[in-house]
Amino acid sequence: MRSTVMDGQPLSALCTPAMVVDLDKVKKNAQRMIEKFEKLGVKLRPHMKTHKTIECADIMTGGSRRCIVVSTLGEACFYADHGFDDILYAYSLPFDKVERCAILSERLELFQVLLDHPDALKQLRKRPLKCGRRWHVWLKLDCGNGRAGILHSEPEALRLAQSIAAADGVELTGVYAHCGNTYNCRGVQQIQRVAKDTTTFTMQFMEKLKIFGITCKSSIGSTPSCSHPVQDMVHLTEVHPGNYVFYDVQQSIIGSCSVEDIAVRVLTRIIGHCPHRNQLLIDCGWTGLSLDGAGKLPTGYAVIEGHPDLMLLSMTQEHGKVEPLSGKLDFNMYPLGSLLTLIPYHSCATAAMHPVYHVHSEGVLMGKWKPTRGW
Ligand SMILES: Cc1ncc(COP(=O)(O)O)c(C=O)c1O
Repeated sequence: MRSTVMDGQPLSALCTPAMVVDLDKVKKNAQRMIEKFEKLGVKLRPHMKTHKTIECADIMTGGSRRCIVVSTLGEACFYADHGFDDILYAYSLPFDKVERCAILSERLELFQVLLDHPDALKQLRKRPLKCGRRWHVWLKLDCGNGRAGILHSEPEALRLAQSIAAADGVELTGVYAHCGNTYNCRGVQQIQRVAKDTTTFTMQFMEKLKIFGITCKSSIGSTPSCSHPVQDMVHLTEVHPGNYVFYDVQQSIIGSCSVEDIAVRVLTRIIGHCPHRNQLLIDCGWTGLSLDGAGKLPTGYAVIEGHPDLMLLSMTQEHGKVEPLSGKLDFNMYPLGSLLTLIPYHSCATAAMHPVYHVHSEGVLMGKWKPTRGW
């Protein structure tokens, strides 16, 4: 049965658990990032992985529907189907998806893939594009992030860049480094150290390429580094943050944002009193919040807004257990059916649990955003 909640109603009209998005904060976060990089003269290529919706993508791109990054081919197809173009699929090329990538490359003005291994280049060469089109390829560098990417200082990285640039039917479009190691930082100084190092390693690599007569674009970024960009980043062509549009408790701990900037919440209701355990039961389990953040916060899996004395101790699929940080609960303060508001530790993980986000302005419902899912 469809929900009967209508736009114009208060958030309390929603059935819970419900993910709610503050439209004013989303717009403010997006605009701030646009202005930051306009000022630096660096192109902002926002990542869609956090929200995966058309509406939020429109806000992040200023309505241009151009110049985005995606983390799955499912997202790429979703955005292409809605008139987006200049899409970068920033995930080490999965060999099972080469044909779908080829079709998008032949269909869009600019669809770009990313790789970090010579075997991936071989896969692209085995599937030449039709109509005289060329594969647009970004080389993924590891500049200290420690996940995907070929190590920036390895001679193989330079050799792979040269092979891409020299291959028939293929163009080396750019060099891409994600500074996810900013997630280990605490405070602006540490974030900016990583941002500076990543920029330096990337630009040193670009200089080496120039010696071989190769020029292409460069892109680095993460929400922490792009929230506090360093001057050296003016040398980059692009940056690619994504989470900033929502932010979350994790980002506020790192120092990317303040708690006031966080645009998402999960609404939950109290569904049980357990005086024998000094606990409340809520209707949000890990299917409504995710388990991301385990052991990271003194208040458990989330921050409970307006209740700094409470912690979300544990969750099963559809239940959460809430208890006080100390002392006895006054159950009269938490009647069954009353609402609690959770500020998620990691908004990407929380958003991934929800088939719909309820959008509001100052607590008044404005509509729903439906994300795409799958790979
Ligand atoms: C390859 C890549 N690029 C860009 C981003 C966006 O970074 P952030 O989530 O810090 O905004 C991510 C995030 O995981 C990523 O994996």
